[in-house]
Amino acid sequence: MNPTVSKSGSKPTGVLLAALLTIFFFIADTGNASAQNEGKQLFEKNCTVCHKIGGGKLVGPELMGVTQRREKAWLLKFIRNSKELIDAGDPIAVKVYEENNKIPMLSFTQLSDAEINSIIDYIDKWEPEKEKVFTVDVNKKDGFSQTEILRGERLFYGLIPFEQGGTTACNSCHNTITSDSLNWNPSAGELATAHMEKDGMNIYKSMGEPTSDVMRKAHGEFKLTEQEVFYIAAFLSEYKQIGEKGHKSFPEKLMLFILFAVLMTLALVDLIFTKKIKYKVIHLVVILVGLAVHFNLAVVEATAMGRTQDYAPDQPIKFSHKIHAGDNKTDCRYCHSIADYSKSAGIPSNNVCLNCHNVVLSGRNSGKFEINKIHRAAKSGKPVEWIRIHNLPDHAFFSHAQHANAGKVQCEQCHGPVAEMDIMKQFSDLSMGWCINCHRDTKVNFTDNKYYSTYLKLHEELKAGKIDSVTVETIGGLDCMKCHY
Ligand code: HEC
Ligand code: HEC
Ligand code: HEC
Ligand code: HEC
Ligand code: HEC
Ligand code: HEC
Ligand code: HEC
Repeated sequence: MNPTVSKSGSKPTGVLLAALLTIFFFIADTGNASAQNEGKQLFEKNCTVCHKIGGGKLVGPELMGVTQRREKAWLLKFIRNSKELIDAGDPIAVKVYEENNKIPMLSFTQLSDAEINSIIDYIDKWEPEKEKVFTVDVNKKDGFSQTEILRGERLFYGLIPFEQGGTTACNSCHNTITSDSLNWNPSAGELATAHMEKDGMNIYKSMGEPTSDVMRKAHGEFKLTEQEVFYIAAFLSEYKQIGEKGHKSFPEKLMLFILFAVLMTLALVDLIFTKKIKYKVIHLVVILVGLAVHFNLAVVEATAMGRTQDYAPDQPIKFSHKIHAGDNKTDCRYCHSIADYSKSAGIPSNNVCLNCHNVVLSGRNSGKFEINKIHRAAKSGKPVEWIRIHNLPDHAFFSHAQHANAGKVQCEQCHGPVAEMDIMKQFSDLSMGWCINCHRDTKVNFTDNKYYSTYLKLHEELKAGKIDSVTVETIGGLDCMKCHY
């Protein structure tokens, strides 16, 4: 038996007909859409720097209704080369020119008639976008029924198929579990957060109209029905409530800590004084388990304090030093601008990001989603809550100014190959031995650096040839009080 042959030979005419019909509908459908799309794309590429439709004057005048104000033939000529018309003394062109403070418009001689007409057509047909109205309050869990939430969950996990195609499960990109390596796609939790935020995303809109090239590629196969998006919205709202699983919140941990402290005390008291329970094994087990739980919590907390080498927590925005300090060669001090003058190197404020990201709206890897978070934070006025990685204990004193400026130690000597890190991590162990070793080994540039001009005695010894170099140790770099308060 050969199943392949018997299958393909079953209904050849039916298959052919279906294929032809599909192709026909495909062409009919895209033919229409692409004409509309071409105008839109050309407009966005060439005109949006100076013009808005329905958004008021920018550099050039508002274009809504311009196709009613002017003849199409005139528009064609004006858009192709407005200067020619103005120079020729065309009364309307001159008037428009003068009304706009005689700022000339670029000419577009490289565009064909058909292309310019498609732009004019796009402006002509343009309508204000109708925002999808939520049929239920997405912030209210009771707004969705359990069935709706469950349907959404199944769709999201790819357990039931989408009506109009698309087979990749959403969670294969939008992770529901945390991963060690950098995943540029927003996680399911992040989608849920953005979905619930006031100025967050409009899932109805973004599923219908991808917001960036990255998303256009990733979402290309999907054509969800409104009902399906509604179910997924229901799931995301629920997901936000239960949160990403596996991370115990602090009160829970505290309760656990207290519970075991009490149990261990009871076990000890009974073991020594009351002696109600006969079998000593029970006391032992309670105490051992209690100690294990306490130890575990202590380790988790210490890691969270950031006192460990290689500590690399997930940050609220997928900020990559590789892209910024590496690929784009932005100087460390552009963002960590106080490193030369202050104890701390500082984490850049949102405004520093906006210096560039008011213009750079989309990233190669993450699309718009991550960069949108910068804009959302700016809108809400809430600073981005970066998780601190390096953290010396309070009793130790460390100053960046002393090292980066006075000592001229390179950032990379302590922080490692930062320009290659997509995810920032703690490179050195920050132990006392690490500080001391470097102070023993590092020679300071004593003669050329004005900072050391006060060390008169050492200068004399150097001149007299009594010593040939000065290390950090020589100038007191091993004194306990230099590093401890
Ligand atoms: C560099 C900025 C700039 C760009 C880019 C630009 N325009 Fe203009 N546009 C202007 C200015 C300024 C005027 C006002 C007329 C003048 O000063 O020449 C204008 C005028 C117009 C007018 C006439 C408006 C009226 O009320 O009659 C139309 C139509 C127009 N632009 C369409 C376009 C189209 C379509 C594109 C893209 C292909 C485009 N413009 C690109 C700056 C620009
Ligand atoms: C475009 C801005 C920018 C540039 C340029 C930049 N950083 Fe950062 N840096 C940040 C942000 C934002 C954070 C916090 C997020 C993170 O840890 O990834 C950070 C975090 C750090 C941290 C960890 C801070 C902590 O929490 O302990 C170190 C160390 C660091 N940067 C060093 C450098 C060095 C070295 C360079 C130059 C090679 C550099 N940075 C360039 C923005 C920048
Ligand atoms: C000096 C300019 C500059 C500054 C300042 C800057 N960025 Fe960027 N950022 C860029 C450029 C350029 C890109 C690359 C865009 C691309 O992928 O083509 C980028 C990309 C990104 C991306 C997307 C990465 C990807 O590949 O998808 C994120 C997220 C991002 N930046 C966050 C931040 C944050 C947060 C800050 C502030 C701490 C910041 N940036 C500051 C220039 C800057
Ligand atoms: C192949 C990977 C991939 C798959 C599969 C995928 N997505 Fe995405 N999705 C992305 C990427 C990448 C982005 C971010 C692009 C951006 O914001 O520019 C994104 C963004 C989104 C956004 C945010 C849009 C916005 O406006 O910020 C939503 C909502 C979303 N996806 C829902 C879904 C749903 C629902 C499914 C399943 C039907 C799905 N995605 C399947 C990769 C994927
Ligand atoms: C001699 C080693 C050393 C050098 C050189 C150094 N750092 Fe640090 N850096 C540290 C230590 C140690 C900490 C932790 C400080 C603390 O917890 O008080 C730290 C913390 C940071 C932080 C976290 C926030 C803060 O200010 O505490 C950033 C950001 C940072 N360094 C960036 C830089 C940059 C950028 C440079 C170069 C201009 C640099 N560092 C040079 C050792 C160094
Ligand atoms: C990569 C080498 C290096 C490491 C690691 C290093 N230092 Fe230094 N440190 C120097 C140099 C070089 C100087 C000299 C600059 C100066 O005189 O201020 C210095 C100076 C100092 C001074 C001032 C000493 C004085 O006599 O004025 C203090 C305090 C200090 N370091 C603390 C620390 C602490 C705390 C750590 C560990 C968390 C540390 N350093 C790690 C290189 C290092
Ligand atoms: C160059 C800076 C430096 C000097 C000099 C220095 N320390 Fe420290 N010391 C540190 C740092 C940084 C830590 C914190 C390391 C950690 O948490 O692992 C520390 C930690 C300690 C601790 C606590 C140990 C712990 O496990 O938390 C003690 C005690 C201590 N130092 C004593 C001293 C004494 C005594 C001297 C003088 C002989 C001295 N230190 C000189 C930087 C220094």
